[in-house]
Amino acid sequence: MSFLNPDRPAIILAPMEGVTDAPFREFITRTGFYDYCVSEFIRVSSHPLPPKVFRNEVPELRNESKTPAGIPVQVQILGGHPERMALSALAAIEAGAIGIDLNFGCPAPTVNRNDGGATLLKYPERLEAIVRAVRDAVPSRYPVSAKMRLGFDDPSAIDENVKRAEQGGAAWITIHGRTKTQGYTPPAYWKPIGKAARGVSIPVVANGELWSSEDLRRCQEETGSKHFMIGRGALAVPGFALQAREALGLPMLDLKNPLSIPKSPEPGAWSAFFGEYSSVQPSPSRLKQLARYLHTKGSIHWWDQVKTMGSTEEILRFLASTDIDHC
Ligand SMILES: Cc1cc2nc3c(=O)[nH]c(=O)nc-3n(C[C@H](O)[C@H](O)[C@H](O)COP(=O)(O)O)c2cc1C
Repeated sequence: MSFLNPDRPAIILAPMEGVTDAPFREFITRTGFYDYCVSEFIRVSSHPLPPKVFRNEVPELRNESKTPAGIPVQVQILGGHPERMALSALAAIEAGAIGIDLNFGCPAPTVNRNDGGATLLKYPERLEAIVRAVRDAVPSRYPVSAKMRLGFDDPSAIDENVKRAEQGGAAWITIHGRTKTQGYTPPAYWKPIGKAARGVSIPVVANGELWSSEDLRRCQEETGSKHFMIGRGALAVPGFALQAREALGLPMLDLKNPLSIPKSPEPGAWSAFFGEYSSVQPSPSRLKQLARYLHTKGSIHWWDQVKTMGSTEEILRFLASTDIDHC
């Protein structure tokens, strides 16, 4: 398996629509902190999707489904119709995908109204049918996994849903420790992840509210998991994934020109980091999105100064003007 090895711990970059797109994946995987990434969800609605949609949405498919740093990217699809999902998964493979993840966690009302994402957690037999249809369609050398919340509104739904996903042929399951109705309000509940994991024999990846080594330690204790997915923490505390690797005894991946993470909250310390991001993502709003995430966890203290800036040049000039000596 090129993604998750059941016996080896792993740190995985979460899919985040509008955030962890290909430029961000290119940038952040240069740290050497992530074993693999999952693409933002690609929605299958009234028709199966053709290969070109996948090539456009996940440009890494043209590069053996790896980021330029060589980190594998799994393609995530979302939808409620088994046959359309199966045909779309096959099209993704034709486009170059080397693994498929199925989204059973998206809380967005438009997605849920149209029979996708977390809604399916209310119908375990349908969830199983979708996993099975995709598993049967995709050649066995390519893993098919599922990502889900604890339930739609009932957190105990996870116990049956993980079993159904396993029976349908999922190679592993990622669990975000919250129901759909709990949205993104802290805390995330890790204990139910552990309970659900004990009911299946496939690996479970724990996810939700991991921001520090202390969170990781508690999550590890409560879930018994070896595998962890980091979402917002990848932006808000970019050095945390390295600490997580160290805590799990995982070496940093050996990359040629790794991206280094600033250690000080001062603007000058972040000049090179933002410079590197802007080289793959020139949009000022996306640079500000990163700065806003960094601000939420106190990694920087200059959000108020950049939030009204209108251009990438202005942001980079501000950071460079306060550049510090890194020696
Ligand atoms: C802006 C945003 C977009 C997201 N998009 C996706 C998505 O496309 N697919 C998915 O499975 N989960 C998506 N998620 C959920 C995350 O993958 C993750 O499960 C969640 O943020 C909890 O992890 P965290 O606390 O480490 O951020 C998204 C979350 C956020 C905040």
